[in-house]
Amino acid sequence: MGKPKFIVANFKMNKTNREAEEFFKNLVSGIKTVNSEVAICPTFLCLENALSVCHKYGIKVGAQNCYFEDFGAFTGEVSAFMLSSIGVDYVILGHSERRNYFFETDDIINKKIKSVLKNNLKPIICIGETSSERKNGQEKEKIKAQIDFALKGILPRKFAEITIAYEPIWAIGTGQTVDPQKAEEIFSFIKNYLICTYGEDSVRNIRLLYGGSLNENNAKELLNIPNVDGGLIGGASLNLDKFMSILKGLESEGEEAK
Ligand code: PGA
Repeated sequence: MGKPKFIVANFKMNKTNREAEEFFKNLVSGIKTVNSEVAICPTFLCLENALSVCHKYGIKVGAQNCYFEDFGAFTGEVSAFMLSSIGVDYVILGHSERRNYFFETDDIINKKIKSVLKNNLKPIICIGETSSERKNGQEKEKIKAQIDFALKGILPRKFAEITIAYEPIWAIGTGQTVDPQKAEEIFSFIKNYLICTYGEDSVRNIRLLYGGSLNENNAKELLNIPNVDGGLIGGASLNLDKFMSILKGLESEGEEAK
């Protein structure tokens, strides 16, 4: 069986507490046979519920954002320190929706990544180009710049805690995905860039995810591309049947390879 994939569900601003709880309960009863590492990222409100239902089944729990100060007069924010105090494992940072709708800059994202690592949480750092950057052939420049900003000032010994999710912005929630050949080229570019810039030993354990309109029909192909360690799933993670079918599809890959 191949290396287990890392599958992250990003609920975004969806599901009430009650809806999320029902999802978690059904998920844990269906997930026993799954080999992938799974992390569920619901809204802040549902985190404690997710932790109490999912953690004992080995399902990890992540937040979708945090603030970089530990505490203080920052109305409306939740800190990495607080997330860590309840036992959260991961925090998604730099998602294009945070960059676009909430004006998060590379500098803010870098501060958040540092705060997450300082508080012993693991960041899932999102990067990716817009459709016009893709059309103008600027996707690699964009990826390089976002990686360099994200990792600025972070000690290489912390790199093993980091996951990078490549999510082309034009593919998020649109039903469009990267052509698998192009995805292969981009992931090998990201891997090589990390190795050449930061050294093979430092980046060996950084996991690379693909995100953007993953679903039960395309996940197996896209997540088995070389250098892809898993997927970040938005829309299709909200429906338990679809989500389970993605996870089970990855299992059958392992079975066939036996
Ligand atoms: P999507 O979202 O699967 O709905 O495209 C992915 C994401 O934004 O993380």
